[in-house]
Amino acid sequence: MTTNQSPQPRDQSEERSSDADEYIQITNLRKTFSKGTIVACDDVDLDIGPEDFVVLLGPSGCGKTTTLRMIAGLETPDSGTITIDGREITDLKPKDRNLAYVFQNITLYPHKTVRKNIQFGLDMKTDLTNEAKQERVEHAADLLGLSDLLDRKPKALSGGQQQRVSLGRAMVMEPDAFLLDEPFSALDAKLRDQMRVEVKKLQRKLETAMVFVTHDQEEAMTLGDKIVIMHEGRIQQVGSAYDIYNEPQNQFVAEFIGSPSANMVEATVERRDNGVVVENRWFSLPVTEDDQSLESGQQVTVAFRPEYLELDAENGQFELDVNVVEPHGKDDAVYLSVDDKEFTAITSQGTITDESKSLHARVSPDNIWIFDDTGQRLV
Ligand SMILES: Nc1ncnc2c1ncn2[C@@H]1O[C@H](COP(=O)(O)OP(=O)(O)O)[C@@H](O)[C@H]1O
Ligand SMILES: [Mg+2]
Repeated sequence: MTTNQSPQPRDQSEERSSDADEYIQITNLRKTFSKGTIVACDDVDLDIGPEDFVVLLGPSGCGKTTTLRMIAGLETPDSGTITIDGREITDLKPKDRNLAYVFQNITLYPHKTVRKNIQFGLDMKTDLTNEAKQERVEHAADLLGLSDLLDRKPKALSGGQQQRVSLGRAMVMEPDAFLLDEPFSALDAKLRDQMRVEVKKLQRKLETAMVFVTHDQEEAMTLGDKIVIMHEGRIQQVGSAYDIYNEPQNQFVAEFIGSPSANMVEATVERRDNGVVVENRWFSLPVTEDDQSLESGQQVTVAFRPEYLELDAENGQFELDVNVVEPHGKDDAVYLSVDDKEFTAITSQGTITDESKSLHARVSPDNIWIFDDTGQRLV
């Protein structure tokens, strides 16, 4: 295989020293629009390893695309820096960055064949022979399962195949990293699942960093080695799928990740001789991980995932009315309420039926999180 852009030797680094996790370093990136009135991104700090699969995840408008476009050079940051392997690229033109961008909307040339579409970016490269270009196109087509379709025009391809051609076009450039902005959002659910598996396998084979933008938490969890959760232009947490699910650092992450969402309920801290509890009109839970920052009388939010609300419990703490039982396959989601407060539980298929009217419920104290009134995690 032809490789004409071996990375810069690491000892040429003038910035912070690069190591395995810091191949692409994003420092303090800020971007505003409309004369500073819209802050699209702020304080964005992120280290990406040379073979990381990084997913930027967050609700619409949180700054994912803007962040990705700044990495690509399609948008100029107001402040902050981006380096690749120690080399600052913040002010380089997109074409001088050796990064490949795959857009949300499929952007193929309708009159060109698959082969020509894949080869498109390579045609600009004058330092490669025609044979070398063909070799790259065929290798990419082979990895993407497009070998038999090279002579077709885009309209004779399915949506999934078309997006694979876009990936192929990015692959032949042999970039230092792939930047993908919701590349599968136009595909139907089944195909999206399939493409996810393929892109993950592909990334492992290519051993090249990918930064993948999505608003879909399931997509993020299945793809990302490192998931970056954004909200209102700021990074909320960076971690593995398990980290962000099990140990959310703030209330936004706790509510955003997980479906159905975690239960959130107001409570008051009570310090007693025999320990600390959080209590409200329905239950009183011991705080097993005593945190000295909890003060008596403090108002907090107690959160727990639906799977930790045990129903039909022998030593239940409070009583709940069953409203709806929603089958999800192996499990059911059970929606309940007491007074005006709604709760959700996950139970094995068929354990609870709509006929079960009132149930004793129990929250497992080992599995609660506690957030202060600004949403920061305390316990
Ligand atoms: N070119 C632009 N002009 C003005 N506002 C923009 C522009 N691009 C993005 N924004 C705003 O910046 C914020 C972040 O947008 P974006 O990065 O596209 O979010 P996401 O990709 O997470 O949906 C949004 O409020 C959006 O409306
Ligand atoms: Mg976007």
